[in-house]
Amino acid sequence: MALSDTLKVDLGDRSYPVYIGTDLLTEADLLVSHIRGNSALVVSNTTVAPLFLGKVQAILKAHNIRHDCLILDDGEQHKTIATVEKIIDSLLRQRHDRQTTLIALGGGVVGDITGFAASIYQRGVHYIQIPTTLLAQVDSSVGGKTGVNHPLGKNMIGAFCQPQCVIADTATLDSLPARELSAGLAEVIKYGLIHDSEFFDWLEQNIDQLLAGDYQALCQAIRVSCTIKAEIVALDERESGIRAILNLGHTFGHAIETTMGYGKWLHGEAVAVGMVMAADLSLRHGWIDETVKQRTIGILEKSSLPIKSPPNMSADDYMKAMAIDKKTLDGTIKLILLKSLGEAVISADYETDLLNQTLTQC
Ligand SMILES: NC(=O)c1ccc[n+]([C@@H]2O[C@H](COP(=O)([O-])OP(=O)(O)OC[C@H]3O[C@@H](n4cnc5c(N)ncnc54)[C@H](O)[C@@H]3O)[C@@H](O)[C@H]2O)c1
Ligand SMILES: [Zn+2]
Repeated sequence: MALSDTLKVDLGDRSYPVYIGTDLLTEADLLVSHIRGNSALVVSNTTVAPLFLGKVQAILKAHNIRHDCLILDDGEQHKTIATVEKIIDSLLRQRHDRQTTLIALGGGVVGDITGFAASIYQRGVHYIQIPTTLLAQVDSSVGGKTGVNHPLGKNMIGAFCQPQCVIADTATLDSLPARELSAGLAEVIKYGLIHDSEFFDWLEQNIDQLLAGDYQALCQAIRVSCTIKAEIVALDERESGIRAILNLGHTFGHAIETTMGYGKWLHGEAVAVGMVMAADLSLRHGWIDETVKQRTIGILEKSSLPIKSPPNMSADDYMKAMAIDKKTLDGTIKLILLKSLGEAVISADYETDLLNQTLTQC
């Protein structure tokens, strides 16, 4: 095993470790030590289960933990309340009690659905995140946001519910399609933009290694990303303030996902375009200079991410979708914008005509 780091998400009695390294799925203790009681339900999907479920099952079996498995259909379009019901059905039929532990084995979709099911099953049971996409390893598995989509809006149904631990194994990324790796990089780049200009410099220098799946570079990117996320989540677990900066590019991005139809654009791809739009709007206000916008576009392009809004999406489409997004407070759309490279602000204090220019010209 190569456990390269253990971070802590510091939330008092809801604190938990994030294990980062290579080949961690063969390390039984990391998983077993976080299972309360003697039963578990592993939730995965049709793509991930054939790859890694055997390893998880072998550990559970070796430690005499009674376990069941539920394999979901793959895809963002299945991130629905109906899928949550399937998990609850499975738990009840197989007589899982309040001591059971859910194990989410998969990307952000499996993690978000499973975490939400854990938050409501018998008023809350434990769960563990085993993220198998870069996006899930750097973002969705950490911080306790769980939930599902509604046809009218992304992640509109959900709960805050922290996992018992996160096991991020870079070896699982070997089988990840290149497009998905790039989508994960969008969230990694986000951390540099909102909080850490040195990390952004490092990303510019190491993007080729990351795209090539180099374990050392990936571990470093995951470690810095999760450290920043853990720090922000510890300050504001339920997003009453600062945590919203993690949503850089997301208000625009969610609008793209909702308007284009779930699963058409990958979440990370939509966020990439959203970050270009946020940089563009920040530049129009004179808050950042042209170089910051160009460096943002440059690194996203190098990561094979889209940088242009879908051609058939109008400013009106954005405004409609953005009005439903939960960053709307008292009718005003709050946006995460940049004050400099490495510094984000939450702002309702932007010019609407400049926003309109961004929506039509990006
Ligand atoms: N909860 C949060 O804080 C948070 C943060 C960011 C994103 N999200 C959510 O995460 C979701 C996106 O997550 P995602 O990008 O991981 O998408 P995903 O879960 O759909 O995974 C992407 C694809 O890769 C496949 N896959 C997963 N692991 C694989 C592996 N190791 N090898 C080969 N294929 C693999 C999946 O089956 C899927 O087809 C969105 O629903 C988004 O809203 C949540
Ligand atoms: Zn995201």
